[in-house]
Amino acid sequence: MSASNPTVIVTATVPAKLNLGLAIVGRRDDGFHDLCSVMQTITLCDHLRIEATPRPDSRPIVTLLGVAARNGDVAIDDPGIGASDNLAVRAVTTVLAALGSGGDFGIGLEKGIPAASGMGGASADAAAAILTTEQATSVSLGDDDRGRIAAGLGSDVPFFLKGGTALVTGRGERVDPLPAIVPTSFVVVFPRLLVPIPRKTARLFGALTPDDLNGGEDVRCQVSRIMNGEPIDPALLGNGFSRALLGIAPELGDIRRSMDKVCGQPVVLSGAGPTHYVVEPDRERAEWDVAQLQVAFGDQAMVVRCDPWAGPPEITLGFRRPTS
Ligand code: C5P
Repeated sequence: MSASNPTVIVTATVPAKLNLGLAIVGRRDDGFHDLCSVMQTITLCDHLRIEATPRPDSRPIVTLLGVAARNGDVAIDDPGIGASDNLAVRAVTTVLAALGSGGDFGIGLEKGIPAASGMGGASADAAAAILTTEQATSVSLGDDDRGRIAAGLGSDVPFFLKGGTALVTGRGERVDPLPAIVPTSFVVVFPRLLVPIPRKTARLFGALTPDDLNGGEDVRCQVSRIMNGEPIDPALLGNGFSRALLGIAPELGDIRRSMDKVCGQPVVLSGAGPTHYVVEPDRERAEWDVAQLQVAFGDQAMVVRCDPWAGPPEITLGFRRPTS
């Protein structure tokens, strides 16, 4: 290693998402499903760090330096995914191959977003890994290649490149940005003690019946409200996975009933779960709800108040130190 190869440290604060309504429209010939959803990034975050020593003339070596729980409170293992298949590692490897860049790239993750929670943590990390790798190599992929790589990594990844509020359709790769929603709090509950469901998303898609499908009319009504600057209507926040998920994990019924009793607002499923949330426009009331639910659930669940997060991951190009 020579002093001309400095290490670049790039860090990213990576927001989770909630689905503000999720319709599953139908099964496609390629085995995926067409979706119609409003996705919203929120202020529950992972932190990703890339330590890069680019060397244009050598092969890329991508290493997972570590995955840590940020507050000792979050699940960091997705039961369906081994460490070698970490989506952020795959993202960095894919970007380096597309750019033809080489060198040593170490990735560290601090998880604030529970894994396999329906809040898109792994997809968010993958999107952030794409953006930070471009920063670390000082080469831009361009919108088309970036979007193609994101969609190849997972259906939710393209949304996280831009974040904010967006209508997401197709299998997840069509992302139409929307204006920011009227500010509101989300009371977010992740049932921590639930037995993890291996390959949860694929399994839930497989458990859908024709009654779980719809054309996304409610989602499109919500989109009209957002475009008109009206507040989110909780009555339009249905999720096509709700019935199938309750069939696989009936104990979620108790969590939903407790949330309903405390918050007095519709209880909504995010993604393929098991995270549920309520929309509470009044911040003080949301804080009160969180305190009540923390007492009610104890170790059973992580309960947090979140705000909407306006855009993509926040990226900081750190210091460069010469290596010897
Ligand atoms: O793309 P992702 O890795 O998130 O998808 C995991 C699995 O979920 C897919 O293999 C597919 O079985 C299912 N899926 C689907 N329709 C989508 C997204 C995912 O059927 N729009």
